[in-house]
Amino acid sequence: MPDTVRLAALSDIHYSKSSQGSLQPLFTQIAEAADVMLLGGDLTDYGLAEEAKILAKDLAPVKIPVVAVLGNHDYESSEEREISTILTDVGVHMLDGDTWEYHDVGFAGVRGFCGGFGRKALGPWGEKIIKDFVHEAVQEALKLESALARLKSDHRIVLMHYSPIRATVEGEAPEIFPFLGSSRLEDPLTRFDVTAVFHGHAHKGAPEGRTQTGIPVFNVAHAVLQKNYPDGPGFRLFEVHTGSRDEDSVTPIGDRRQRGRRATDRGDDEPIANPSPS
Ligand SMILES: [Fe+2]
Ligand SMILES: [Fe+2]
Repeated sequence: MPDTVRLAALSDIHYSKSSQGSLQPLFTQIAEAADVMLLGGDLTDYGLAEEAKILAKDLAPVKIPVVAVLGNHDYESSEEREISTILTDVGVHMLDGDTWEYHDVGFAGVRGFCGGFGRKALGPWGEKIIKDFVHEAVQEALKLESALARLKSDHRIVLMHYSPIRATVEGEAPEIFPFLGSSRLEDPLTRFDVTAVFHGHAHKGAPEGRTQTGIPVFNVAHAVLQKNYPDGPGFRLFEVHTGSRDEDSVTPIGDRRQRGRRATDRGDDEPIANPSPS
């Protein structure tokens, strides 16, 4: 069994009808650098099966395992099932409350949902439509919890579209924070002592944060990476140290430069943003 497993993480690629070939060089680069590719939702722009076919074509030559979840854009045209099937047919592991394991690293994935963070989160009270809205986030958290309960590996990596914490949506307009994620998604992460979390959706959010118990959370939305790592390759690369199990057993590697920070070739020693008080 290898000592390290390399993960390349990226989200919100929003493939459209005109995207054919656009990220193929990036996918080739990922396949050369990593053992596993993670795609955190908003795989398509309008949620069209046609867009998923174009993405599937670009992903087909990628020979490393690809793990993905759907995002809200993938639901826009009610063709999400077809999108999942198209991508599954080219070998993508589509996770929707499901798990997948690679050596001693387990992956659990859900889309997640919104509702806000901390004590200001929306509660299931009043109109039925509000209760239904909150129920959706609760259901996603339950799906994640039962997926995590099935994983036997020492390392548990979670992939989702929405954010489980406030820190990685900061940078967006505060008015839309409640639509970018939900603290309800944080509870299962804590309960199952997850190793690291990857998400997207908040295109103007922050790249790193931590849960209240210190679990690292990475917002790998394409736009976030382009803004914060302008000299980087357009994805983030991480090493999971399979022999150790502490809060730094997943470390970013190869981040060329983070805007506003000292230039560095290795991101391992870079601090992760403090969690927000929400
Ligand atoms: Fe997106
Ligand atoms: Fe999204």
